[in-house]
Amino acid sequence: MSEDIKKGLLGIVVDETTVSQVMPDINSLTYRGYAVQDLCEKCSFEEVAYLVLNKELPNKTQLNKFKKQLEENRNITINLREIVKHMPKRSHPMDVARTVVSVMGLEDKETNSNSPAANMRKAIRIFAKTPTAIAAFFRSRKGKNVIPPKKKLSFSENFFYMCFGKVPKKEIVKAFDVSLILYAEHSFNVSTFTARTITSSLSDIHGAITGAIASLKGPLHGGANEEVMHMFKKIKKPENAAKWILDALEKKKIIMGFGHRVYSKGDSRVPTMKKYYLKVAELLKEKNLPKMSQIIEDIMLEKKNIHPNVDYTTGPIYHLMGFDTDFFTPIFVISRITGWSAHIMEQHAANKLIRPLSKYSGEKHRKVMLLNQR
Ligand SMILES: CC(C)(COP(=O)(O)OP(=O)(O)OC[C@H]1O[C@@H](n2cnc3c(N)ncnc32)[C@H](O)[C@@H]1OP(=O)(O)O)[C@@H](O)C(=O)NCCC(=O)NCCS
Repeated sequence: MSEDIKKGLLGIVVDETTVSQVMPDINSLTYRGYAVQDLCEKCSFEEVAYLVLNKELPNKTQLNKFKKQLEENRNITINLREIVKHMPKRSHPMDVARTVVSVMGLEDKETNSNSPAANMRKAIRIFAKTPTAIAAFFRSRKGKNVIPPKKKLSFSENFFYMCFGKVPKKEIVKAFDVSLILYAEHSFNVSTFTARTITSSLSDIHGAITGAIASLKGPLHGGANEEVMHMFKKIKKPENAAKWILDALEKKKIIMGFGHRVYSKGDSRVPTMKKYYLKVAELLKEKNLPKMSQIIEDIMLEKKNIHPNVDYTTGPIYHLMGFDTDFFTPIFVISRITGWSAHIMEQHAANKLIRPLSKYSGEKHRKVMLLNQR
């Protein structure tokens, strides 16, 4: 391949952003200048969502107003609820997530306005409603009644409530909140870049988020958290872990939940998420999963010098919390909507059509033969 082609845009800086900064050399990730580890310990997910969307952490009044806005926008239309109920039960929940955001675009009166104020209102509506639609499919595909959202519950509590009909212990809710904080934003990853690319043609926020969800689904991106759990299910018990992983490496397989395009010395989100994963496992008296995780992590480091990424820890934690494996990436969606929306608004504020070049390597100057001559 020619030297001037940067396949996968490897190492290419395409724009500026003020939403987040990844500094792989010092294992740092900041949102609007705040370290994510600090945000996880001191803030709720709602505070971080406000920060990502509005550039500043909220004071009490601003936070209460934001929470109220979310509560008031949580309900989905009867039309959308019926669509969700009638979706094929075998549909992947990520395809459902993509479709519900697209339908919300059909229903939203401001779809065609890209003014900053309209985009912020739409971002809040998408952020508030998507968990309700995803939880509706979580239950309806099992033939269970759909549980409407409940006011006065936090974002995380309400999601548990809509999926399971109850809110778990506060330690579990906190761990879930932390996972959402860590998933909220991560600079120019594949799905965010997709959202910005769609936006760059001056398309709308529902379309950009629909495209971003399709991009997040892939196993090399958000879909990795589901693949991690499939791997643990195949391994079954800690005694099998070392042999399984060594065999996989021997066969040159890619191990899901490891490696990262930007971080080479470890994903800055992992230590925090791992701490909460181990807390939840201890609380639920689960020993096998953390043991398997550690064995595989150690072997990957020793044999390949490849570190786990955040999906390696969110996969098992969501499993312990009771979510179906194919709902792990939709959980990622309900959080990343904040980061995508911030980037979409940033792109609109200083737009330049994203249109790279390609080097043609196909056939040259062929003469068209008439049909009866071919
Ligand atoms: C994330 C990912 C796509 C980054 O890819 P990338 O920057 O293009 O890096 P490459 O795929 O070129 O990997 C570089 C080398 O490390 C190896 N490698 C990278 N991730 C690996 C993994 N998870 N398991 C085994 N080997 C891995 C590659 O095989 C390659 O080896 P080679 O040089 O001998 O061919 C890649 O690490 C991956 O597929 N990980 C698993 C999926 C995943 O967890 N995704 C979530 C990311 S947050």
